[in-house]
Amino acid sequence: MSARDVSSVGERLQRGPGPEDWWKTAVVYQVYIRSFADSDDDGVGDIGGLRTRLPYLAELGVDAVWINPWFPSPMYDGGYDVAEYRDIEPAFGTLTAAEDLIREAHDLGLKILLDIVPNHTSSEHRWFQAALRGDAAARARYIFRPGRGDNAELPPNDWSSNFGGPAWTRVTAPDGSAGEWYLHLFAPEQPDLDWTNPEVGDEFEDILRFWFDRDVDGFRIDVAHGLSKADGLPDAGPRDGSLAGNAFHPAWDQDEVHEIYRRWRKVADSYDPPRVFVAEAWVSSSERLAQYLRADELHAAFQFDFLRAPFRADVMRQVIEDVTAAAAVVGAASTWVLSNHDIVRHVTRYARSQPARLVDSDWEHARWGSESADLTLGRKRARAAIMLTLSLPGGAYLYQGEELGLAEVEDIPSELRQDPTWIQSGHTDPGRDGCRVPLPWSGESPPFGFSADDASVPWLPQPAEWATLTAAAEEHDSESMLNLYRRALSLRRKYFTGLDPLTWLESSAGTLALRRGDVQCWVNTGPSDVPLPQGQILLTSGFGVDSGVLPVDTAVWVVVS
Ligand code: NOJ
Repeated sequence: MSARDVSSVGERLQRGPGPEDWWKTAVVYQVYIRSFADSDDDGVGDIGGLRTRLPYLAELGVDAVWINPWFPSPMYDGGYDVAEYRDIEPAFGTLTAAEDLIREAHDLGLKILLDIVPNHTSSEHRWFQAALRGDAAARARYIFRPGRGDNAELPPNDWSSNFGGPAWTRVTAPDGSAGEWYLHLFAPEQPDLDWTNPEVGDEFEDILRFWFDRDVDGFRIDVAHGLSKADGLPDAGPRDGSLAGNAFHPAWDQDEVHEIYRRWRKVADSYDPPRVFVAEAWVSSSERLAQYLRADELHAAFQFDFLRAPFRADVMRQVIEDVTAAAAVVGAASTWVLSNHDIVRHVTRYARSQPARLVDSDWEHARWGSESADLTLGRKRARAAIMLTLSLPGGAYLYQGEELGLAEVEDIPSELRQDPTWIQSGHTDPGRDGCRVPLPWSGESPPFGFSADDASVPWLPQPAEWATLTAAAEEHDSESMLNLYRRALSLRRKYFTGLDPLTWLESSAGTLALRRGDVQCWVNTGPSDVPLPQGQILLTSGFGVDSGVLPVDTAVWVVVS
């Protein structure tokens, strides 16, 4: 097939969703703002830094940017402890700077998604402070309960915090006596709100409107599956209470939560254009996740099983089949993601042996000491994995730095680690700092252009070997991860943003082969080279790929006539 024929195939496939349904096939770039770019040389990323880098994101070829929480916060959990929902954390900038950023992003054709944290506030939020002072109305917005035991010295139930330890903390009453306990599914500094109290719902609808009125295009919803708890807060018993694998735990994924999102959807739909939501919901199955995607609820939800899949054709295919089947039942689009700010970066996940099952960060951490990481192999597989991801039907999220091929930083000195997981686990779980290290932009040594002033010290230390992985170093290297992402995103716009369904093609064990429209994506996760159908190769993740052969740990997009 000639180049001209190939481009006419692309034009035919451009029957994508209409402008109102942009999120169905969008590629969204996640900005962990503390670590993206620092404009005032304090070693912490900020809105000014992000504004200067918007052209980089537009050139990369993404459609939208999701910004992790940027609201005033004591930063006990990286901003997921919000003290004020209608303002900007001073370390990140001002409300005016945020409004300027939204406008500038729109001028470049980029949409902006924010991150709303409705399950809990910061313990410094004015509501919780009033609750601690004994204000009954404020207290009723949180989940305070008497303790168990003769002297109420035991927590009200057996739930665990996701960061380790019990999910309850006892307060001292205003008169100095030992008081009730309050629930926090995360850190004690993150008290859970009581969503059965209508004042909580009203407040959050008002917060949504505050940002929608400022032209924000939508929200990622933090812990979307946690807002409703089972009546009476029963003990969980021997069930696993962690975010993943939480089947039928009374703290998570309760049916009542869906009523909240039906109300939110009405708010989003009252805007022109309608605003969108993407859920962070760790639930026990693709079917449960699809419940959040019913037509009158949320638009999208991250498919975390894909992110938990090893680089193995059999497991990846199983996940893709499950996810697409469950999404189809409710008529929703799937949302693919390989990495985020909570998970060991996928270059590192793929750099060790790949078990035949889904894994999580705890498991990854456990093997750090025992199995060395082959990062060259991890990057090779990551190149193939992004091509698979971008060929799938639905939307995709990229996590900042994956386009540079950054690996997890596993050797952050203990005294510099900041994640509450590290602290609350009694320094046994290294936590999530390793995927949150500030980005390298340019130069030969830290801070690698993250801050303009070379004397600035990033809030987490950057490895010296990142000198070859800066955006500037990769810019002119045609074989770099950055240029692979740019090429893949540009080709995706042309060939993969239609609503063509996925068709599996016959392929040997260890390989994946699928077709979308007239383009095929082949991925070889097996131990040896396999035959590749003859055709017009659009892109390969590897180098020196000969027509007719698909090497190991490699993906190819090919138009077969
Ligand atoms: C999920 C967020 O992604 C994570 O970073 C945070 O610690 C928890 N929710 C609690 O808000």
